[in-house]
Amino acid sequence: MQGRVVTERVTLMGGVDWHRRLFDALIPLPEGTSYNAYLVKGSEKTALLDTADPATTDELLQQLEAEQRIDYIVAHHAEQDHSGTLPELLVRYPEATVLATEKGKGMLVDLLHLPPERVEAVADGEQRSLGDRTLTFIHAPWVHWPETMLTYLDEERILFTCDFFGSHYATSRVMVGDDAHVVSAAKRYYAEIMMPFRKPIERHLARLEDLDIAMIAPSHGPIWDRPDVIIEAYRDWVSGAVKNVAVIPFISMHGSTSELVDRLVTELVRHGVTVRPFDLTVTDIGDLAMAMVDAATIVIGSPTVLGGAHPQAAYAASLANALRPKTRFASVVGSYGWAAGSARALVEAMPALRVEVLDPVLVRGRPRADDLEAVDRLAATIAQRHGAL
Ligand code: FEO
Repeated sequence: MQGRVVTERVTLMGGVDWHRRLFDALIPLPEGTSYNAYLVKGSEKTALLDTADPATTDELLQQLEAEQRIDYIVAHHAEQDHSGTLPELLVRYPEATVLATEKGKGMLVDLLHLPPERVEAVADGEQRSLGDRTLTFIHAPWVHWPETMLTYLDEERILFTCDFFGSHYATSRVMVGDDAHVVSAAKRYYAEIMMPFRKPIERHLARLEDLDIAMIAPSHGPIWDRPDVIIEAYRDWVSGAVKNVAVIPFISMHGSTSELVDRLVTELVRHGVTVRPFDLTVTDIGDLAMAMVDAATIVIGSPTVLGGAHPQAAYAASLANALRPKTRFASVVGSYGWAAGSARALVEAMPALRVEVLDPVLVRGRPRADDLEAVDRLAATIAQRHGAL
């Protein structure tokens, strides 16, 4: 794909990775992704903001074929999906200087073996003139690495945000426009990448209130031509508010745990709680992460295997612990044969969640009537807690 026009002076470059299905050997990409680089041409100088994943190096180099000179390459973030083409670009453009935060400089030198003399650290708020266009750098650590920064193109009021406000969404669109699905793709992206950093993101959002922003140009997914849409969505996601939703990741070996989960689902629905059950044998972890963004409760369903939780349930607990959603309540339901170890193991696997642990329901073998009544009590407690939020 050739470079695509954003404005007269800004061109969208980089690669659309339509068919990639896994990121970081961890995150499913049901809709592919893109690695956006932006060429900004001032009257005197030219800058490239971000580069692309090594998988699309040739595409980016081809798009830049007509460019005789690039003065600055801005590296907002050192992760290789945005910085991976830097070594080739520094060979092709020997006059180019890489601009990054001080921390970003160190990471680029270590991760990509860039010559330190080719990388210049820029301060928060520092500006660089391209002639009739000006770049202002805004340090924004922890979206989602510690070295990250944003760039504001003053004259065009475009904020370039790299991962921040991005979406893993391969599309031929340049702008989001009327594609409402992008908000959902961005929520999934937030859940998988940004959710552990809610507090720093809240601070960055507050800082952005001082900027007049016409467009937000991330380095994954299309450009937000109505920036308020994604800024408001982020404000909601990072806020402390939770919804009347219970997420239930579960796995069942012989049907007993799923009987408990079915009963829990039925009772929660009867009490007016929205329920999102996820059978872990067929669950896309991105869908599970997305459901956890604003759910008030997580209940993990797991049988006991060899004295502990089922490994798939342990994985769900470990995922929740790593992503640190704003969940308020957690519990466990499950069946065991001779050792009731799953509940303790699962709760201990989520120390980062600041939750009230509600009494688990652990059953030996198939649930009996009094076991199902214990599930009913758990559902009533969850509904009562949600009602008090
Ligand atoms: Fe898209 Fe953190 O890299």
